[in-house]
Amino acid sequence: MEIKNSSAPLGAEITGLDLAQPVDDATFQTIENLFHERGVIVFRGQNLTEEEQIRFSRRFGDLEIHVATQCLRPGYPEILVVSNILEGGKPIGLADAGQYWHSDLSYLRNPSRCSLLLAREVPEAGGRVLGETLFASAAYAYDTLDPDLRAKLQPLVAVHGYSYRYQLQNAAGLRGALSQDQLKTVPDVRHPVLCRHPITGRNVLFVNEGFTHSLEGVAPEEAQPLLQQLFDHITRPEALYEHHWRVGDLLMWDNWLVQHRAIRNYELPLRRLMHRTTVAGVLKQ
Ligand code: OGA
Ligand code: MN
Repeated sequence: MEIKNSSAPLGAEITGLDLAQPVDDATFQTIENLFHERGVIVFRGQNLTEEEQIRFSRRFGDLEIHVATQCLRPGYPEILVVSNILEGGKPIGLADAGQYWHSDLSYLRNPSRCSLLLAREVPEAGGRVLGETLFASAAYAYDTLDPDLRAKLQPLVAVHGYSYRYQLQNAAGLRGALSQDQLKTVPDVRHPVLCRHPITGRNVLFVNEGFTHSLEGVAPEEAQPLLQQLFDHITRPEALYEHHWRVGDLLMWDNWLVQHRAIRNYELPLRRLMHRTTVAGVLKQ
């Protein structure tokens, strides 16, 4: 197994490891330590079945079943299909996942520990793979906050919500509306703007463009520019790792430590098919 860090403040690549085989405890510990430090790991060359992806993902904790149940892989509710492919005119998965900066499941009281995304088909044109994914470090964002701003943020609590974003994304009606029962499972939640990573204790700036829509007790005309300033700070170019996909990449990211965003620079007939497993959060600090 070979490890190579990216030149950004996040991201590492592991080659020479076959995750279809059981991973021994010592190897797993090396992976987990690296993951806590770098926030994003890509395992190259993983030709995994659904069962194998689920089994490896479970090493990190229980798996979530996504609220958008119409996008789950039939027979494997732990797998969320992220794809632009249509079958019989209908999307087989989330067709427009994450085209804004976000952290998966920050809208839950107990946000996801991490997500694992396996590339099964990637769109290619002119010898170049399209559909890159960008990652930004929320720990680096915290560390580089201006001290006066950090002091101002210390007492603030942000409100995160899924239905807010879903409605924005579903303007074209492509996804189908969420049912009342689905909506009930995702009420707005509150998280401090400055959090500690629940496992490592690392400080992070925990607001994201996708799901953070307000600050508790702060008027919108004051909250919106402040949130925008924080979103801009988190996603400065120097804080980014840009992932260029290959079929067989299994990419995992820490939803406390990093945020991500999908680049939609391809359309059918170019196909993109990804399978996501999502690890539930450990209890909050
Ligand atoms: C996700 C996501 C981005 C992408 O699966 O959570 O945001 O590039 N995906 O597919
Ligand atoms: Mn996402």
